[in-house]
Amino acid sequence: MKNKGAEYIWFDGKFIEWEKALIPINTHALHYGTSIFEGIRAYKSNNNLHIFKLKEHMERLFRSASIYSIKINHTIDEMVDGTVQLLRKVNMRESCYIRPLSFVGVHGIDLNVTYESPTHTFIIVFPFARYFQTEGIRVGVSSWRRIHDSSMPPIAKSGANYLNSILATQECKRNGYDEAIMLDKNGNVSEAPGENIFVIKNKTIFTPDMASSILEGVTRDTVIELAKDLGYTIIQRPILRSELYIAEEIFLTGTAAEIIGVVSVDGRNIGNGKEGQITKKIRNTYNEIVTCNNNNEKYKGWTTEVW
Ligand SMILES: Cc1ncc(COP(=O)(O)O)c(C=O)c1O
Repeated sequence: MKNKGAEYIWFDGKFIEWEKALIPINTHALHYGTSIFEGIRAYKSNNNLHIFKLKEHMERLFRSASIYSIKINHTIDEMVDGTVQLLRKVNMRESCYIRPLSFVGVHGIDLNVTYESPTHTFIIVFPFARYFQTEGIRVGVSSWRRIHDSSMPPIAKSGANYLNSILATQECKRNGYDEAIMLDKNGNVSEAPGENIFVIKNKTIFTPDMASSILEGVTRDTVIELAKDLGYTIIQRPILRSELYIAEEIFLTGTAAEIIGVVSVDGRNIGNGKEGQITKKIRNTYNEIVTCNNNNEKYKGWTTEVW
């Protein structure tokens, strides 16, 4: 979305025209990265628009805010409701991306951000289809290490964290890869710039644990539950870089990327160099769930209908 995504945005609880949403040049977030945000998807299917895990995303927004004492002047329910109302207001009928964001407003050059500091919150929406254009992606391990909880908590989805993601992405693109994999400060596998990682060995699924400098992905949580429901064993533990090279399958998960198979790491094929069977099964089930085409009643509660 490089331009306007819809006629209106939701700004501090009101609808305003996209073009009229202007912020002062001395907005704190612009200077110091003091913003926290979410990325959510809604899927067009069965003559409706289904928002995936809307409440879970808003809950994470509030957790990110609390890490930095950034006050959100609305409740989780108001944010949930605001999202649905916005999609109706702009008459969104196609699959789209939803970006709620809270930021510190005009606060001078004061680095003491407290719950009294002025903040604003907006939600923008824009049509969105695929993130990766290929069936399987080629990844490279980045020389940039993932930020660590001791300096900048990766569990907070803050704007500033993405400078780390940007360095890794720039490097991987320069080297001809589709995506980067970052190691944590100890050299264990952490995550991709905007996705979590899963590794399959002996039909068991592994994913880096919370202490491996990851964002607790909503898609990651979904896949963990889904994989168990499909009968797989799933283990969260530190993963060595070298384990990537001997994996049977690898896939990445994220709201934007959804579930995407990794076909090579650092130029070495994973499995037979194509999307693996377990990845495919999890990906297909995930696609059924987000589009509300899965018969399991449990998963129906994961989506919110707009229309
Ligand atoms: C750094 C990072 N890790 C993981 C994820 C995946 O999180 P989710 O599945 O909630 O989109 C994202 C995307 O938001 C991300 O930016």
